[in-house]
Amino acid sequence: MTRSLNISGIAYGGDYNPEQWPEEVWAEDMRLMTEAGVNMVSVNIFSWALLEPSEGVYDFSRLDRVLDMLYTHGIAADLATPTAAPPAWFFRSHPEALPVDRDGRRLSYGSRQTFCPSSPAYREAALRVARALGERYADHPAVVMWHVHNEYGCHNAECFCDTSAEAFRRWLRARYGDDLAALNDAWGTAFWSQWYYDWDEILPPRATGAVPNPTHRLDWRRFCSDELLSLCTAEREVLAEAAPAVPATTNFMVMYNFDALDYWRWAPELDVVSNDHYLRSTDPESEIDIAMSGDLVRSLAGNRPWLLMEHSTGAVNWQPVNRAKTAGELRRNALAHVARGADGIAYFQWRAAKAGAEQWHSAMLPHAGTDSVIWRDVVALGADLKALAEVRGSTGTAETAIVWDWDAKWALELPSQPSESIRHLELVRAWYEPLWRAGVAVDFVRPDADLSAYRLVLAPSLYLVDDAGAANLTAFAERGGTLAVGFHSGAVDENCHVRLGGYPGAFREALGVRTDELFPLLPGETVGLDAGGTGSLWSERVRPDGAEAVASYTNGPLAGVPAVMRHDHGTGTAWYLATLPDPDTLATLLERVRGEAGVRPVVSGVPEGIEAVRRRGPDADYLFLIDHRGDGAEVPVSADATELLTGKRLEAGTVTVPPGGVVVVREITTGPTGRS
Ligand code: GLA
Repeated sequence: MTRSLNISGIAYGGDYNPEQWPEEVWAEDMRLMTEAGVNMVSVNIFSWALLEPSEGVYDFSRLDRVLDMLYTHGIAADLATPTAAPPAWFFRSHPEALPVDRDGRRLSYGSRQTFCPSSPAYREAALRVARALGERYADHPAVVMWHVHNEYGCHNAECFCDTSAEAFRRWLRARYGDDLAALNDAWGTAFWSQWYYDWDEILPPRATGAVPNPTHRLDWRRFCSDELLSLCTAEREVLAEAAPAVPATTNFMVMYNFDALDYWRWAPELDVVSNDHYLRSTDPESEIDIAMSGDLVRSLAGNRPWLLMEHSTGAVNWQPVNRAKTAGELRRNALAHVARGADGIAYFQWRAAKAGAEQWHSAMLPHAGTDSVIWRDVVALGADLKALAEVRGSTGTAETAIVWDWDAKWALELPSQPSESIRHLELVRAWYEPLWRAGVAVDFVRPDADLSAYRLVLAPSLYLVDDAGAANLTAFAERGGTLAVGFHSGAVDENCHVRLGGYPGAFREALGVRTDELFPLLPGETVGLDAGGTGSLWSERVRPDGAEAVASYTNGPLAGVPAVMRHDHGTGTAWYLATLPDPDTLATLLERVRGEAGVRPVVSGVPEGIEAVRRRGPDADYLFLIDHRGDGAEVPVSADATELLTGKRLEAGTVTVPPGGVVVVREITTGPTGRS
């Protein structure tokens, strides 16, 4: 049974680490949190060493005072198990619990997130401290949620030691039904003399002299995700025994290279899905990254609301350059997450640290104190979130789905591919961008998801797909849906075995095409398209087999060969993009694809640069309009709407989005003029 978070309105706060400060400072923290409208903070995330000064000996006094103080001030606690940062004393008695890297070096303690996920000593110590916390605070009135660990998979998700090797073998035995022949077949070990005669011969994919076995590497990634998940669920169970009614979360990090976990497997194990998101200083359009991250997290949560557990008010000290936010960006960023389904907004961290590894990371209360732009923005955001209380619980409204699969991502990015320039996230983002610009609502789905709610399904990058996933996607088109597939999809099965007989293996029939040879393009190389624009990254010698050519190459070895194809399949349509068209061409193409599929933007006629997102509640829709370009706009809304941030009734049937600003419009959907 999923337990829900018992807090009213939108949660607002951040990581609160008062142990860094003398207690005199805490009183000021409470005063300022109240001023900013903070109603929930995450505590104890990395406090293991102070909480358990030596094995089995606890000092709860500080945490008792922190929780009591929060409760007195009406601030809820998301109480974390501190297991992401085992103390030095633990590693002195259990040096074998330190992780070993691929090259065989054992790492040292002195930072955080450094432990062997398969270490029995680590598991025992983590569950012990989790149990102690659960038992002590199960009934504490401030505690509304357990925050299990912190960002599993961040920094080090892998350990290559002998204990991990044993755990890997156990996992493999379960996967292959104790049948070594099945593993040899799946891994293709007849090649390069890799045949295994004994389970004990199998090792983690440690550094070796030449290209590793791809299926070995892929199974390793699956194992590493499952191994961490088993730690997470074990902690969750221990906490649930002590406090059956308190929901549990752990913070995901779905974007970037923190791709150690298959979050489709993780999300159902949690009561509340949470995510951390940080802007990349090199991304000129971070708003698109926020939107994509939010859509993916909401989808992981089953189109239920989720929490933004961490983001930044400004500088992010692990970026190459710690960029500050521009005027209004803090507000736009936070409300963009709410627009995509976040029912909570939290930052790393409450008060900027003066010492330690993150002393140059921004916070809600900056080094400069309250006489600062960040503080004023933080207080203003608190008021905004309060005004949006009724949005809580409302969900997304997409008719378009993008297929996202961690197995496919991991397999695509293994060494020795036809091109090492192909990156899953970049391809998905390339297809997502024009939809974002057009204001089209998008969900993310796994290949085997129920697709009945969608008109359009896009698979920009699905290198690996199993038979069930492929059948599900092609059946969607057959039954009248519109499916668009990107190049190098359907190429291999779940064991990374090439699907024979021509590419793109699993989708050949549905797409009505057959390719006999791949012609990936060099970095920076482009090839002309007769319908206009260019393609990059990829081309292939494809022969239509029922499909019609929509665009063909104008030059190069494949001049005259189709690059984009459309196929009537069953009662639906299937499109194949055998190259990556330049952004304008891709946008035009996807506009045609979605037009044919009958997918409309959230609001028609919204000027470019204004992000329009709708959340749907039982009695009202909430239309978020966010101006990223700075020009402002006048947008039509339904009669009798209200702008929630100002509380103004919009009697004129339009709303003004101020330059760089945000508006949230409540449109009533019940009654004679509404939805029902
Ligand atoms: C991660 C961690 C936090 C903090 C932030 C800083 O997301 O979870 O503890 O280090 O990064 O950006």
